[in-house]
Amino acid sequence: MSVSHVLAPHAPLFAGIESAAPDALLALIGLHAADPRSGKIDVGVGVYRDEAGATPVLAAVKAAEHQLLEQQTSKSYLGPEGDVQFTRLLADILFGTEFARAPGLVGLQTPGGTGALRVAAELLAQAGAGRQVWVGLPTWANHIPLLAAAGLRVREHRFFDGIRSDLDFDGMIAALSEAQAGDILLLHGCCHNPTGISFSHDQWKQLAGLCVSRSLFPLIDIAYQGLGDGLREDAVGMRLFLEHVPEALIAYSCDKNFGLYRERVGALWAWTRSREVGGRVMSQLCALARVNWSMPPDHGAALVRLILSDDALRASWMSELEAMRQRIAALRVHLGSSHPKLAPIARQKGMFAMLPILPDAVAALRQEHAIYMASNGRINVAGLSESSIDRFCDAIRSYLSDGQSA
Ligand code: LMR
Repeated sequence: MSVSHVLAPHAPLFAGIESAAPDALLALIGLHAADPRSGKIDVGVGVYRDEAGATPVLAAVKAAEHQLLEQQTSKSYLGPEGDVQFTRLLADILFGTEFARAPGLVGLQTPGGTGALRVAAELLAQAGAGRQVWVGLPTWANHIPLLAAAGLRVREHRFFDGIRSDLDFDGMIAALSEAQAGDILLLHGCCHNPTGISFSHDQWKQLAGLCVSRSLFPLIDIAYQGLGDGLREDAVGMRLFLEHVPEALIAYSCDKNFGLYRERVGALWAWTRSREVGGRVMSQLCALARVNWSMPPDHGAALVRLILSDDALRASWMSELEAMRQRIAALRVHLGSSHPKLAPIARQKGMFAMLPILPDAVAALRQEHAIYMASNGRINVAGLSESSIDRFCDAIRSYLSDGQSA
């Protein structure tokens, strides 16, 4: 008897599965690669590029890789919390050494900032059925799908004024008057993706007051530390905020500031009210890590640990990061001075900026000028160079609109 006669017939499972919608942002990588035109400009996906358009491995990372190759004696498991020393050293960079030692602060290594966000969202979903998370628009393309996939109900609030191409802080606060006690508020720690907005210190304090008075739980996503105003400067506002709120979750990415994109290096911290609460929260975060990826990949986090624990490597990394930051800042100034409608870009921070441009224009720029950007008009400023920026500005000039209300 053949096997097919023994097994009971069953309905074909895969046949009923529909294709997932393609990720429009990641699709740009393939579209740009397939374009044979010379002089094409890629301001799509957010990776840092140097003047020559390359995304090189940082010298500090290369040196740390050599050290790791020489020194590593085992590839045995580390555990769901990953590399504990990595998380400690990174906490010093993010929170400052004093806050980083606070008894209520606990953290673990995660696969990228995305892994951190996913575990954070799952913890929040488990902590209360049907929790709502407030997300300002526009936001990183993966935020809303990720938060919804973890079981949170997403509520959108006003954040960006598309006419002025700037933060509408009053509009944001007014929209959040609808938030209920226990709701979650997603905040970008600095260099907002996609608008390049960093909150002022005063705005951070007002947001802390709002979270305390309305009992909102803050979830902070910080993925660009060091690419806005500087390593310490980009964290100061968030540090002020944390001094005023009793609880928070903070997701961190080393993709951009260490150039470790494909190595998937991130961390998640919980700011809790006490060592005892922190211990319980940490045990849940580890349990969530265990069911998601068991243990995070080691290589990239080991490199960050080596860089941060060696004075010479740390200094090398900091100067490379500073060079990236200054290149982006110079490109922002150039863009901002090229047209009055782009002026806010010079004041905004980090890799990303929103152009006041309609989706049809984005498509036309791709077809006619081989310029690749996200369909909402977001550009990766670091994709430009001093040799391409004037051509870029000339190409977009006739497409600049009076802005869209977000
Ligand atoms: C981006 O926003 O372009 C990057 O953060 C890459 C990504 O994962 O979306």
